Amino acid sequence: MSKAYNIAVLPGDGIGQEVVPEAVRVLKAIADIYGHSFQFEEMLVGGAAIDAYGTPLRDEDLEKCKQADAVLFGANGGPKWDNPKAEVRPEQALLWLRKGLELFANLRPVKVTDSMLDASPLKPELVKGVDLVVVRELTGGIYFGQPSKRWEENGQRHAVDTLYYSEEEIRRVVRTACDIAMSRRKKVTSVDKANVLSSSRLWREVATEVAQEYPEIEMEHILVDAMTMHIMRAPKSFDVIVTENMFGDILTDEAAMLTGSIGLLPSASLGARVKENGIRPGLYEPIHGSAPDIAGKGIANPTATILSAALMLRYSFGLENEASSIEQAVSKALSEGKATADIVRDGKALSTREMTDVIINYIYENS
Ligand code: NAI
Ligand code: MG
Repeated sequence: MSKAYNIAVLPGDGIGQEVVPEAVRVLKAIADIYGHSFQFEEMLVGGAAIDAYGTPLRDEDLEKCKQADAVLFGANGGPKWDNPKAEVRPEQALLWLRKGLELFANLRPVKVTDSMLDASPLKPELVKGVDLVVVRELTGGIYFGQPSKRWEENGQRHAVDTLYYSEEEIRRVVRTACDIAMSRRKKVTSVDKANVLSSSRLWREVATEVAQEYPEIEMEHILVDAMTMHIMRAPKSFDVIVTENMFGDILTDEAAMLTGSIGLLPSASLGARVKENGIRPGLYEPIHGSAPDIAGKGIANPTATILSAALMLRYSFGLENEASSIEQAVSKALSEGKATADIVRDGKALSTREMTDVIINYIYENS
């Protein structure tokens, strides 16, 4: 039975305005094939919204995003708004969205298909077949803990940040990781620094309790410093990795380098809320930024945003077949050497729009 879904569309700045409309075209193809109804409402965000309204995200637009079933986001920021003294900054929009939608779990899948092996800075035999998801806690930890301040005392400068977690903050993100692992290889790696930090000892304790709710899941605990080595040494051994905010910030960038191409990686951010119709609202965006160096040329790689739309279908709407049909079409396009300028090897680089056309054609062919 098909439902109607409301999607807030926030292209933002730079190439966000080029790649997001392409992902919308892919979603329209999915709606056409599977008989769904997607309602799109577009809004200004980031620098574009500062120019138009003097704020990176209007209250009424934030409210619409909260009402929506999911948000598709491009990127915000660019040299035009890069004044460090400015009161309003484009990236505030993303922070307000995360906070407003209570998005505590940031998911970054990293999958290395055979066609991507050349792009990775690591040896092909090391990354061939890598398929993992990092789940990063997004609204707690040292980026939000109080006190966070600097002061002077006896002519010395001091500063403090606080790594704080409540058990509930840990529990909900570890549960999200376990839920995801249940539909994958059922392995969760919880990353902490329990040999030094109290907050990490609590993390490990609560993670262990959550694992007991999921008898089928195999949970392991690894210290974050060791983990930075394991990700490079044996990335294939991981399925779902869950960790606190700052460790996750660092590990997700490291994990992204397994593929070597920033234009290919999607992300999802989820909250706790599940609507009565089963929809779990979330925010979906490529991990790359607004790429001012190539903006306006029509050459940006739309793949990361298209794959983000696939994550939306999977995690917010529960449309697994639809999500995998997009992912399979992307894999096929890449394995046949179809590529935008950032990843092209031999042959002609496709434009943003041509790359999307190829993907849409494969979606129709396979349906
Ligand atoms: P970036 O991700 O925008 O670009 C890094 C490099 O990768 C550039 O050479 C760019 O051309 C290339 N690239 C990125 N995405 C691509 C794609 N889809 N296709 C082809 N090439 C691609 O990161 P950068 O340059 O550090 O930041 C640029 C602006 O974006 C800044 O204002 C930054 O604050 C903002 N930014 C926004 C983010 C967001 O909205 N979530 C995340 C990261 C940066
Ligand atoms: Mg980062």
